[in-house]
Amino acid sequence: MLYHQFDGIDIPRLGLGTWQLKGDDAYRITSKALELGYRHIDTAAVYKNEEEVGRAIRESGVARDEIFLTTKLWYEKIGEKTSIDAMKKSLDRLGTDNVDLVLNHWPVPEMEIGAQVTPLAEIQEQGLSRLVGVSNYTQNQLLTAVTECPVRLANIQCEYHPNLDQDPVLKTARGFDMLFTSYSPIGQGEVLSNPAIERLAEWNKRTPAQIVLRWHLQQANVAAIPRTSSEDHLKSNFEIFDFELSAEDMKTVYGLIKPDGRMIDPDWAPQWDTGVAA
Ligand SMILES: NC(=O)c1ccc[n+]([C@@H]2O[C@H](COP(=O)([O-])OP(=O)(O)OC[C@H]3O[C@@H](n4cnc5c(N)ncnc54)[C@H](OP(=O)(O)O)[C@@H]3O)[C@@H](O)[C@H]2O)c1
Repeated sequence: MLYHQFDGIDIPRLGLGTWQLKGDDAYRITSKALELGYRHIDTAAVYKNEEEVGRAIRESGVARDEIFLTTKLWYEKIGEKTSIDAMKKSLDRLGTDNVDLVLNHWPVPEMEIGAQVTPLAEIQEQGLSRLVGVSNYTQNQLLTAVTECPVRLANIQCEYHPNLDQDPVLKTARGFDMLFTSYSPIGQGEVLSNPAIERLAEWNKRTPAQIVLRWHLQQANVAAIPRTSSEDHLKSNFEIFDFELSAEDMKTVYGLIKPDGRMIDPDWAPQWDTGVAA
């Protein structure tokens, strides 16, 4: 495993994403992931699977302090008092006293960034989460958040895969030595059929997903949290620590950026950074 260290805490740079895994699937895949060696699990209040994820962790036989658990507060719940309430409800559902990381899931439209991130400090001070961070913030929003949050932000989680340029946010995160977590890291499966990725997979004797996940991990400060409902994919997605992409291979994957590569763009999204590809 590769780790990013933040304030003395080791964050595994490959984790399991659990969006859209519901009920028995969420329990089954989280359990299997822990059995295979995954130690970083990503959930959110809005995924409606915190109970199953929490139960899988408790019943796994893996010590809680060996697992890096992230959850997220839904943007409509963020506020001076409401963030703490939302955090406590997540902990109840997860059946744990604290998580390792909590994120503001989205910037709240029409709320000052300082007001959105200040409650994260209280969450951390109360010991409800060891680290705090944000998700889906733009470069400017992140800069403001870092400046105005009374505690250090450890992480930003954003969409990132070979079709999407995230240079502005990545550079900013690195500047504060934050971890940048790539969500939809394999483009929800879509980038895997790109002929260039298929060629690299054939050449390196790896699967297309392994090529793309390895590309993430060979970038400074970057983690990836692929999601799958297949136990075979779960296993092969984790087998990426025994090979390296060459500089040439990395360049090939960087070359797949598209100006319209973004996949997740709901109504409440901010005005995104354009990046170099736009
Ligand atoms: N912060 C946010 O706003 C936000 C937004 C979106 C996602 N996320 C987080 O990021 C995680 C990952 O993103 P995502 O779920 O959007 O998409 P993703 O991980 O990029 O892709 C998931 C898709 O890829 C397929 N897949 C996985 N491994 C594969 C393999 N080895 N070969 C072929 N296909 C494979 C899966 O199908 P199978 O089930 O068939 O394997 C699934 O359809 C989420 O689960 C969530 O935890 C966060």
